[in-house]
Amino acid sequence: TIASLTAREILDSRGNPTVEVDCILENGICGRAAVPSGASTGSREAVELRDGDVGRFGGKGVRKAVAHVNDIIAPDLISLDAREQAAIDETLIGLDGTDNKSHLGANALLGVSLAVARAAAMASDLPLYAYLGGPAATRLPVPHMNILNGGVHAHWQGADFQEFMIAPYGAGSLREAVEWGAEIYHALLALLEKRGLSVGVGDEGGFAPHVRSNEEPLELIVEAIGAAGLRAGPDVGIAIDPASSEFFKDGAYALHTEKRRLEAGEMVDYYAKLVANYPIVLIEDGMAEDDWDGWKRLNQTLGSSIELVGDDVFCTNPAIIARGIEENIANAVLIKTNQIGTLSETIAAARLARDHGWGAFVSHRSGETVDSFIADLVVALDAGHIKTGAPARGERVEKYNQLMRIEERLGIAARFAGLDAYVRPVR
Ligand code: PGA
Ligand code: ZN
Repeated sequence: TIASLTAREILDSRGNPTVEVDCILENGICGRAAVPSGASTGSREAVELRDGDVGRFGGKGVRKAVAHVNDIIAPDLISLDAREQAAIDETLIGLDGTDNKSHLGANALLGVSLAVARAAAMASDLPLYAYLGGPAATRLPVPHMNILNGGVHAHWQGADFQEFMIAPYGAGSLREAVEWGAEIYHALLALLEKRGLSVGVGDEGGFAPHVRSNEEPLELIVEAIGAAGLRAGPDVGIAIDPASSEFFKDGAYALHTEKRRLEAGEMVDYYAKLVANYPIVLIEDGMAEDDWDGWKRLNQTLGSSIELVGDDVFCTNPAIIARGIEENIANAVLIKTNQIGTLSETIAAARLARDHGWGAFVSHRSGETVDSFIADLVVALDAGHIKTGAPARGERVEKYNQLMRIEERLGIAARFAGLDAYVRPVR
């Protein structure tokens, strides 16, 4: 049973405050969790409560959310059984009382929800992935490593697209996939240096060079894969997250590298050309969150051949995902715990997708901590693929390192998702 819940303000990878929660049980076990934070957020995400006091952290303090855990949530959860995750999450949702968790803050709720799960797993003497996923949780995901950052994560005019990820699905194990990814990352570093391009990194640890087109990063990555002694296509694929809501302005897609505005149909053609010319297996947020017609067109054109993941458009929200499934606008959902605010709802979102033949792609945020909860979560959900940044920077590699530990612990039971990671077969 829960003896105490304590929240505090800590720093995330961007130097912004975030919430950390300790859940201590009667027997002394302590489960700890920290909450991530996005930069290119969907407008329907659960609300991340910030103090708004510009005298501290430019208004980004989280003392209110911390106080909500310590003063409002903790008294209600003390003496409950930590294994009752569903009931605890229901209580959190009830205490907040709003649709978007704006009263207590999704950052307050999520910190508690995840810390409770960690404590319960420890009390059950199980690794977190097994506590959440049961004995069937044995499949390691293909890591999608964001090695080239653009958009709002680059902090200057680089690529329009936010994320260029490598997917080492041809590896024989998670460990080998991580090794390939790190080798490609270093090959890309050498290539950028040779070309006189910047090797400074963006928020997710990928390089953020000043490229002049959205094809240039794809060419660089294909070359880096080759330089690492691997084959672009059969061994390693590419996934992109344009995060297109960020450049969707007044009903069109404004690409600064192209110096033009594309209508939805033109944007779909633009992607189709990229998919024809590069080994792209997955596009996330190809269309903007409010452009459902555009999403339908994209899905009609590319949805039968590659995975189309909705992030900003669904916000890990089961109600919105249900509508997306009904209207057939995509074939996969991104899964981010803090977009919805409790573990139970996160799991419900992934289940809903999988039950309808859709993919579930587990994700970090651009603002992270060393908390590796999502590494265990992706195995528990059997989701087959995860994105958690470059194979560099502590807050990114901690997730990949945890996945290697899980693979080791599973021993001969471990399987690597490989080409089966996707909802559409890789060509
Ligand atoms: P964010 O970006 O964490 O800054 O929202 C990640 C994404 O768009 O997938
Ligand atoms: Zn995204």
